[in-house]
Amino acid sequence: MKIMVIGSGGREHALAWKLSQSLLVSKVFCCPGNGGTSRIAENTKIDSGNYHAIADFAAEQEVDLTVVGPDAYLAGGVVDVFQERGLKIYGPTKAAARLEWSKAFAKEFMKKYRIPTAGFEVFHDAASAKQHIRETGVPIVVKADGLAAGKGVIVATDLETAYQAVDRMMVERVFGDSGTAVVIEEFLEGEEVSLLAFCDGKSAVPMLPAQDHKRIGDNDTGPNTGGMGAYAPASIFTSVVSERVIREILNPTIEAMRDEGCPFVGTLFLGLMLTKDGPKVIEYNVRFGDPETQAVLPLLDSDLAQICWDAVSGKLNPESVRWKRDTVAVCVVAASAGYPGKFATGKIINGLDQTGDALIFHAGTGLNGNGAFVTSGGRVLNLVYLGRNIHEAAAGAYKAIGNVSFEGVYYRKDIAGRELKRFTMS
Ligand code: AMP
Ligand code: GLY
Repeated sequence: MKIMVIGSGGREHALAWKLSQSLLVSKVFCCPGNGGTSRIAENTKIDSGNYHAIADFAAEQEVDLTVVGPDAYLAGGVVDVFQERGLKIYGPTKAAARLEWSKAFAKEFMKKYRIPTAGFEVFHDAASAKQHIRETGVPIVVKADGLAAGKGVIVATDLETAYQAVDRMMVERVFGDSGTAVVIEEFLEGEEVSLLAFCDGKSAVPMLPAQDHKRIGDNDTGPNTGGMGAYAPASIFTSVVSERVIREILNPTIEAMRDEGCPFVGTLFLGLMLTKDGPKVIEYNVRFGDPETQAVLPLLDSDLAQICWDAVSGKLNPESVRWKRDTVAVCVVAASAGYPGKFATGKIINGLDQTGDALIFHAGTGLNGNGAFVTSGGRVLNLVYLGRNIHEAAAGAYKAIGNVSFEGVYYRKDIAGRELKRFTMS
């Protein structure tokens, strides 16, 4: 079959890489793709902002299945456009994607179906939001209702920061209409885990648990980013925790979405906090995580194309989702200097052929006039290494990233640090 992957990041390179290994797949297109995907797939030249043009392309090229990476396409209804035209696509409809594009919807949904999450209230005006903050005190979490490129969440440890967050979202409208409403949330303490699951509208099959590293600086300091690295599986997500998450969160979510009239097909991503009172949902995402996917997919021992095909056909088979045993993956992201703020692009990338048996998933890369890889984004490369344990995997990923270079290359030095510590102590 022919497959198309929508998106241009490291996640999409990992998806294209895994899909292209399927014996069922004869060709992979990436729309628009990046420098890395150009080596294993055909990057399309179509306007990736025009969903009808993407669907036209899929129809003309007889693409059998399209897999969507980024949330913006899902929130914009790309799945609905494809489905109206009878084209198969792996991802939720706009209505089902609301779990991610409206935090207020997600929170009301969890309340209605008693899915464990942080206590919250939704506000439509700044004065009442601030009054609530004053009454509740800090620490407290202020979230813009809509999508804000991962920047719409402020964890405030003092009142002034919380008030400022409300003003920036609701008065200055730094996130546009995403700040029409804000969610003010109870602060949850614990360790975060990302659990992704394949879903076919009726059931869900979880992937291996992963841990992301969202802040730019070592020891989780500095501003939030799209994600600076990940590892999987996360041992803190024990089988006991896993059973509880499936019973209290994953299965109820899938059943409730069906009851709501918007069955969830695609990858559901649970952003979880493992609190002393049990696992709670921090957020839902309705897509593969980035960079979690870069660490998780290399551990998948099954055919991803078959799984996605089964999911869109409503026939997901848990037996067909198998994972490599006794293997751990660590992904370290190489970013441009200045990210997540302003950064330069067009820097030549060296050493891509010096990384041994590490996997390299490109994110912000392109090719210059001489056919050399150059930087074109904030997050540039993902170096992934599979080892028999976390020490081997982390050492391999760091050795590989040490061999690639571009002007201003930056990466965190402590990816998987928590896991390394756990395994050193035990
Ligand atoms: P989100 O975009 O909702 O994932 O939030 C971004 C980050 O803010 C999360 O990964 C958490 O680290 C943090 N966060 C969000 N909600 C809470 C909460 N209720 N309590 C503590 N931290 C939170
Ligand atoms: N790694 C977090 C995300 O994909 O949103």
